Amino acid sequence: MAMEYLILLSRIAPGITSHPGRSRDLLSLLVRTNTTKDNPQSKRLSDAEVPTFLVAGHETTSPAATWALCMPAENVEVQTRLRNELLTLETDEPSMEELSVLRHLDCVVRETLRLYAPIVGTLRIAVHDDVIPLATPITDLDGTVHESIRPRKGQSVLIPLFAMNRDKAIWGLDAREFISLATRAPAFASRSSN
Ligand code: HEM
Repeated sequence: MAMEYLILLSRIAPGITSHPGRSRDLLSLLVRTNTTKDNPQSKRLSDAEVPTFLVAGHETTSPAATWALCMPAENVEVQTRLRNELLTLETDEPSMEELSVLRHLDCVVRETLRLYAPIVGTLRIAVHDDVIPLATPITDLDGTVHESIRPRKGQSVLIPLFAMNRDKAIWGLDAREFISLATRAPAFASRSSN
């Protein structure tokens, strides 16, 4: 049923109907892959996987793409650097290899995902009692200093991605700003190697 819904959706999506058979968007690729007769079942998404694809894939990439376009539009310096870099490409359909060496594009994508993370937090549930050491001790409302937190089995631990991504202690005083490659690149490099 989920696959039938996708096929219906693909018929009314403008990018697909105007270029039948060669659209490269995810929805078209999924429909083509799942409906090509000689494609083995093991290479197709099951009906149970299709809703995950739609929700997890669409609700994340669509705001990310929107902010990735919005931020350079509001920042002329970032936009100019990005535009000049993209103009060095010799094709309208670059491969992943060609895209992955573009440093300004990489920075715009990372800054976008840092400041406007489509997923603002995630949860983990402790499978046993544990001790998590803290890099910086915290003082609670009673004035007690804690060097670690001690989740008990079954307790949830929230990982606050949105707050972490904007923390001035991690990113510097300009943590709330969308800035260009030269300034932010060292911070990205040190975060990636941790
Ligand atoms: C900008 C784009 C995306 C962002 C920011 C994003 C973010 C995330 C995050 C934060 C998680 C949870 C990780 C965790 O708590 O362990 C996750 C899980 C997942 N994402 Fe994405 N995602 C994106 C794109 C996609 C796309 C395009 C798909 C599929 C087409 C997808 C499918 C999934 C699935 C299936 C999971 C669950 C994985 C698991 O639990 O093993 N995501 N994503």
